[in-house]
Amino acid sequence: MKAWTLTSLDAGLTLEEVPDPQPRSGGAVLRMLAVQVPAYTRVLVAGGRGGIATPTVLGVGGIGVVEAVGDDVHAVRPGDVVMSSGFLSSGRVAEPEEVLLGWTGIGGRGTATGTTDAMRRTWRTGTFAERALMPASTLIALPGAEDHPDLARLAFLPWLTIAAGAVERGDLAAGDSVVVAGATGQLGGATVLLALAAGAGRVVAFGRNRASLERLAALDDRVVPVAALADRAADAAALARALGGDADVVVDALGPAPTSDLTMAAYDVLRTDGTMVLVGGVRQSLPIPYSDLMHRRLTLRGSWMASNETAYATWRQVRAGLVDLDALQVTTVGLNDPDQALAQAEAVRGLEIVTLRP
Ligand SMILES: NC(=O)c1ccc[n+]([C@@H]2O[C@H](COP(=O)([O-])OP(=O)(O)OC[C@H]3O[C@@H](n4cnc5c(N)ncnc54)[C@H](OP(=O)(O)O)[C@@H]3O)[C@@H](O)[C@H]2O)c1
Repeated sequence: MKAWTLTSLDAGLTLEEVPDPQPRSGGAVLRMLAVQVPAYTRVLVAGGRGGIATPTVLGVGGIGVVEAVGDDVHAVRPGDVVMSSGFLSSGRVAEPEEVLLGWTGIGGRGTATGTTDAMRRTWRTGTFAERALMPASTLIALPGAEDHPDLARLAFLPWLTIAAGAVERGDLAAGDSVVVAGATGQLGGATVLLALAAGAGRVVAFGRNRASLERLAALDDRVVPVAALADRAADAAALARALGGDADVVVDALGPAPTSDLTMAAYDVLRTDGTMVLVGGVRQSLPIPYSDLMHRRLTLRGSWMASNETAYATWRQVRAGLVDLDALQVTTVGLNDPDQALAQAEAVRGLEIVTLRP
């Protein structure tokens, strides 16, 4: 089969002919139908987002059809259309260890251990390929997806699921006011869609890119765009004006911003007893005064990936039309030119996505 392969982090992504994966215990072979190529994939391939277990077929997430399963696999069946999360847990309840397959990312404190190394050695697999062998625990059957009219749009389901995990952890209630920091990115755009579906009363979309903000504002009257100025006090004042007061929930989905100012501007407008969820890729420390967090009784939560139950719940929202994939603008690419595909993915923003149809 053909696959986008990463031999080492400095070798670049290449199209290779590799052996077809065979089913084995605990795993299922998928024929990949549609896989979103995240905007930051080129940076990741160049080593800008942490280590990847190489050599590997690259690619996380995706929609595929199950071709074959190991004898002991019952979560998915041949013929099922499934979402692959790439999110593998050791399953040890007391001390769970988690990794992403075919991608960068180790859970917990982010440090590789003998267990995470073994997990990534056993399942050296990614989804930017014609086929993928994945552990069954990372696959979610999507009943009804075989009739979905547009698989290129459905490829956004893994990113929507991550956003749904963040919205859940924010305990968002219908009518709440939400700020999404980094709303102009793909995870931020997904968070706006999920917050709207959850019945948010107002969603303040906060970010730099004006075209992305306009696209979000056109989604729904409840979306209020705020263009980031990168000045904490001025940004917080603009957010407060857009909210007409304070935010019940903040979800920060920013990429690697050079300072914590954008995150802290959103923190500044949280109401007393409010919740802030960090789901993005900011690499800065946050200057949060102890007494402020304590007196405002704030809840600060992290959110990394999401459960299979959240993935299934997100699919049900998509299927019911509560999350409208027509909001996406999709560019479709094939496997033949990985360099060009990564450049195209990097050039799009927010609710514009690039989908690989292997
Ligand atoms: N927690 C999880 O489970 C999880 C899962 C997947 C990804 N992530 C992380 O989430 C982050 C966002 O992912 P994504 O797919 O949305 O990426 P993306 O589409 O590249 O979006 C990045 C966002 O960050 C903003 N940004 C980037 N650099 C900035 C800077 N220097 N100053 C201000 N804003 C900046 C972008 O603003 P503009 O649009 O204005 O450029 C955009 O809103 C990534 O860093 C990724 O590592 C986390």
